[in-house]
Amino acid sequence: MTFHIGAKPGDIAETVLLPGDPYRARWAAQKFLENPVLVNEVRGMLGYTGTWRGHRVTIHGTGMGMPSMSIYANELIRDYGAKTLIRIGSAGALQPHVKVRDVVLAMASSTTHTPSSTIFREMQFAPTASFDLLAAAHKAAQGKATTHVGMIHSSDTFYNERNDLFDQLQRHGCLAVEMEAAELYTLAARYGARALAVLTISDHILTDEALPAADRETSFGAMVDIALEAAFA
Ligand code: ADE
Repeated sequence: MTFHIGAKPGDIAETVLLPGDPYRARWAAQKFLENPVLVNEVRGMLGYTGTWRGHRVTIHGTGMGMPSMSIYANELIRDYGAKTLIRIGSAGALQPHVKVRDVVLAMASSTTHTPSSTIFREMQFAPTASFDLLAAAHKAAQGKATTHVGMIHSSDTFYNERNDLFDQLQRHGCLAVEMEAAELYTLAARYGARALAVLTISDHILTDEALPAADRETSFGAMVDIALEAAFA
């Protein structure tokens, strides 16, 4: 057990899918895994371990934002031995050609800060996906969803008060905004794990369009499929 995860040693698989929402962890585990077993519920942050096509997989919530992601990714990697961590989450689109329901594979993520900023001091670290996972996810996504690969931004705020920041990100080709990937990539780099963020566009920052609730399951399902295929490619 760790401060935030009640799983026993060995309960967590080496491959972990990380949705922000603990209920989405439960939904994905019940829909995609065989014999899913609840391995954590501390603070309501649900984690399940089961198998997918014979491979052990854990699907564990992270909560929202990089501080919360940091807690779970640190404990999953350092205390439970997770080696492949794939965020499955939602993002807001920042480019006209990126549409609601599309999938974005985050090659790299810019930030203003991360929980790791204090150790980097003046350095602007470049949080980057693991290439083998990125390439495998790109292949797995063919025929499942319209997919974009590129740079995203991991924000500390959902309710953004700095439109000028989003203008600059858009101008520099940033595909989408979410709130967790950069810290996941940073921790994976620090501890020699593999990481990727597979994101479904849930809203459009330029048009205010949002994914209708009825379409969520299908759209998020494609993302889980892509993540699982990439993990075991
Ligand atoms: N996650 C989903 N949509 C988002 C947005 N618009 N901003 C930040 N994170 C998000």
